Amino acid sequence: MQQGRDGFSSRFGVIAAAAGSAIGLGNIWRFPYVLGENGGGAFFLVYMAFILLLGIPLMLTEMSIGRAGQRNPYGTFRFLAPKTKWYLVGVMGVAAAFLILSFYSAVAGWTLQYLYDAIFNNFAGKSSSELSGMFTNFTSGVYTPSIWTLVFLMMTGLVVVAGVEKGIEKYAKILMPMLFVIIIILDIRAITLDGAEEGLEFLFKPDFSKLDSKAVLEALGQSFFSLSLGMGTMITYGSYINKKEKLFSSATSVSIADTLIAVLAGVAIFPAVFAFGIQPDSGPGLVFITLPNVFQQMPGGYVFSVLFFFLLVIAALTSSISLLEVVVSYFTEELKLTRAKATIVAFAGVGVFGVLCSLSSGPLKDFHLLGFTIFDLFDYTSSNILLPVAGLLIVLFAGWKWKRMSVASEILGEGIKENTLFKLFMFIIKFIAPFAITLVFLNAVGLLKL
Ligand code: PHE
Repeated sequence: MQQGRDGFSSRFGVIAAAAGSAIGLGNIWRFPYVLGENGGGAFFLVYMAFILLLGIPLMLTEMSIGRAGQRNPYGTFRFLAPKTKWYLVGVMGVAAAFLILSFYSAVAGWTLQYLYDAIFNNFAGKSSSELSGMFTNFTSGVYTPSIWTLVFLMMTGLVVVAGVEKGIEKYAKILMPMLFVIIIILDIRAITLDGAEEGLEFLFKPDFSKLDSKAVLEALGQSFFSLSLGMGTMITYGSYINKKEKLFSSATSVSIADTLIAVLAGVAIFPAVFAFGIQPDSGPGLVFITLPNVFQQMPGGYVFSVLFFFLLVIAALTSSISLLEVVVSYFTEELKLTRAKATIVAFAGVGVFGVLCSLSSGPLKDFHLLGFTIFDLFDYTSSNILLPVAGLLIVLFAGWKWKRMSVASEILGEGIKENTLFKLFMFIIKFIAPFAITLVFLNAVGLLKL
């Protein structure tokens, strides 16, 4: 460990913080609606396959690189591969974190407004078209969504400024167990509704006729996004992990927790949606329009709606913390700013872009760059381009550039002989992962038709 460098203090802290990063709007807002749009169960199977085959190995790789480098993503690549261009992967990571945090905080701002609405019982008595109007009115506004975006970023900044152990780890250890308890309560409510079976069937019964190559690509993008891969977060968090920690078990536990929460979110949502005869494929509005409609028809709906939006806020917060930390660690270590200054600069930068993303549903709706609104441009370039490309470069680095001995000593411990699991891991990293990511990426950008 570098002299005086902040870091995680316990095993539970490592897992809570990394799971906090992974578990976010991606699990509770995005996963259910992407699954809904792609036909349900079959999408889920493909998603799980990606998590096992690519997600876990890539998370392990990122954590190892970070822990070996003991620096922010840029500094880490500089240190591990001096006098080469590999540091560009770190630059991409910092840039991706910045872009994602911008649109992420816009959606997170919506969750704050909806928590407020839930607490003040504002969904009560509204018809489904009124609820949908409420969402459109709110998101197309100027001041309210922008202010919520900034409030959310400020909350994120307050945690990050306190440091890794005293901020990030401390809050993750409180918030993550809370999130788990809330989602279990919501699940119990959903599966005890009359007519819940249909929703469970939608989620768990694969219908492969609904699966096309677009869905496969979305499953890969979603699995990377959900595990916070390809953008330096796991490299950054890895750099705070103690040398004694076994990275294999950290990466596996975090990936399992992340997948479990996505499933539990599906179980909280689909049975309720089907039980009230609503369609599951309503896209991004699923949790903001469909669910309030469900809550106001459900016995005890008030309490469950408050719990649900509180859950979304917690999930979003622990993830945005990890995104901001990537940028802040870069500013403190490379530009030598103090943590407080770095946080303020990052807050100001992301604040501007966050507000622009938030305005993309309103006054800037018709402002297009390369055919996208600002929000969609940030989402598309980060999720479909930067993530897969950085993910690819990271596996290539670990598989082909980094010395196999160094990888082994980071993952297995110094001087320990390679075991079968490690050999399998190296095989995936060297051959399968680069091949699979390239294929899916080329298909995504239309250079190859699967
Ligand atoms: N994994 C987070 C989620 O599922 C999003 C995220 C992506 C966070 C990348 C950090 C880095 O919502």
